[in-house]
Amino acid sequence: NKIGVIFDLDGVIVDTAKYHFLAWKDLADHLGFEFTEAHNELLKGVSRVRSLEILLDIGNIELSEEKKQEYLVSKNDHYLEYIYKMGPEEILPGANELLNTLDALGIPYVLGSASKNAPLILKQVGLFNRFAGIVDGNSVSKAKPDPEVFLIGAQKLHLLPEQCVVFEDAIAGVEAANRAHMISVGIGDAKTLHEADFNFNSLTEIPDNFIEILMRKTAE
Ligand code: BG6
Ligand code: MG
Repeated sequence: NKIGVIFDLDGVIVDTAKYHFLAWKDLADHLGFEFTEAHNELLKGVSRVRSLEILLDIGNIELSEEKKQEYLVSKNDHYLEYIYKMGPEEILPGANELLNTLDALGIPYVLGSASKNAPLILKQVGLFNRFAGIVDGNSVSKAKPDPEVFLIGAQKLHLLPEQCVVFEDAIAGVEAANRAHMISVGIGDAKTLHEADFNFNSLTEIPDNFIEILMRKTAE
């Protein structure tokens, strides 16, 4: 049975959340309020513009459109300083193994990320050429939890949404996959991601036969 896989990037393939956190925290410091790791959870899977809005809400700060644009640029410049230092050693455990398994089974996979920096990050870690297609923050108009990013991913895979499996670490991402009528696999805390069809703490915990089980599931 034909299936395809759509991978989220940040938090599934690489742990860039820590760099987003450092860059947003720097902005919060500059604006004079505290921004914690718990606050950062709210920004996962969310677009850059929406992230700034959430951050400003936390700090109870209102800014002009001009100032917002300025901070979006400076935050990203700061974030990119970390990204340019990344290498293949920052690929999360289990990711390469899972891609190898999919290659061996002949199952195609694409990227479905909210990040406008996704192509750069994939190049930094040496995975850019492994994906059959890339859908990122540059190619979508509606951010997760809207299913758009994954529906475009299904088109790139030449598959129906029901034949697609999505790996996600964010609540907004799991919701997007479910709304797209795809099989959702939550990577991270099962309580946080309880809306996913399957849950694993990390990619290393995925059983060897998991993909075959999914192939059977889509045949039902
Ligand atoms: C998502 C991250 O993958 O990309 C979010 O989980 C981030 O935290 C979003 O805000 C947008 O990323 P970028 O790189 O375009 O600022
Ligand atoms: Mg993510």
